Amino acid sequence: MHPIDRPRRLRTDGVRSLVSETDVDATDLIAPVFVDATTDERVPIETMPGHERVPPSEAVARVEEIRRTGVEAVILFGVPETKDARGSHAYAADGVIQRAIRDVSAETDAYVVGDVCLCEYTDHGHCGVIEKRAETDPTLTVRNDETLELLAKTAVSQADAGADMVAPSAMTDGQVKAIRHALDEAGHENVALMSYAVKYESAFYGPFRDAADGAPAFGDRRHYQMDSANRREALREARLDAEEGADVLMVKPGLPYLDVVRDLRDEFDQPIAAYNVSGEYAMLHAAAEKGWLDLEAVAYESLLALKRAGADLIITYFAEDIADRL
Ligand code: PBG
Repeated sequence: MHPIDRPRRLRTDGVRSLVSETDVDATDLIAPVFVDATTDERVPIETMPGHERVPPSEAVARVEEIRRTGVEAVILFGVPETKDARGSHAYAADGVIQRAIRDVSAETDAYVVGDVCLCEYTDHGHCGVIEKRAETDPTLTVRNDETLELLAKTAVSQADAGADMVAPSAMTDGQVKAIRHALDEAGHENVALMSYAVKYESAFYGPFRDAADGAPAFGDRRHYQMDSANRREALREARLDAEEGADVLMVKPGLPYLDVVRDLRDEFDQPIAAYNVSGEYAMLHAAAEKGWLDLEAVAYESLLALKRAGADLIITYFAEDIADRL
């Protein structure tokens, strides 16, 4: 008996790429950059090999390195000099992130995305304003509606500095609407908004919290970030953000949530972004260091999987390495 259909015919070298369904392109990728106001020199991030926090004076140089690989977009994260209860350096006109955005947009051709959150800027490490008695209270809550105003100010300050896109990641209900409204009021109707619409409370963010110094000092983020168990709820979150005016809808983390990326792709017309987070990067590096995995191959396969699941764009710490290989 011979097989009638032989899919192997289309797997030979000459034809493989003709029939391939999915591509990863350098222009699909956004590279994260950490700008740290507490240092004068580049500091390697131990949990994320190959990545560094750069001082504000090196933000432009860092972005130019990324651009040379063919990656055109960056997302900037700031580590401020000082922190306080209301994260005031997140929305200071001369804050670390505003200075970096100003320099990078003035001096490079990069497409500049600003991460809009308070956790790197608050002394308690939560993504918003918390109840006063919280430090001793295990049932601490981030005050949703009071936080909206601060997120809106943060987004406007980033747009004032020249950001092309803002990306709210605080999982505050109503943040997209509040930010869109504030941007428009300030004359920034052309600044795009990418919402971290579906952001899970994930242990895969561990290495990032070292990188950006944004770990909660106490408590956790379960009462505002999503429960990993939930899939339908992702559609609800994404629908709200789409209705509130998000231009791009993001799923985060990426690889452990490919089903959710696919759900959003099928349900919405907006471009879908996936955040290939710090833990996804760190685990491949750790295994490669032991000689257990081929780093470049698994990195590429990860990005391809995210694209195949339906992501149009990917935020990834592998951006430069993969772009270099392409
Ligand atoms: C800020 C923010 C976080 C990440 C991106 N923006 C941390 C968090 O929510 O704990 C994580 C990114 C990564 O792990 O690569 N809220």
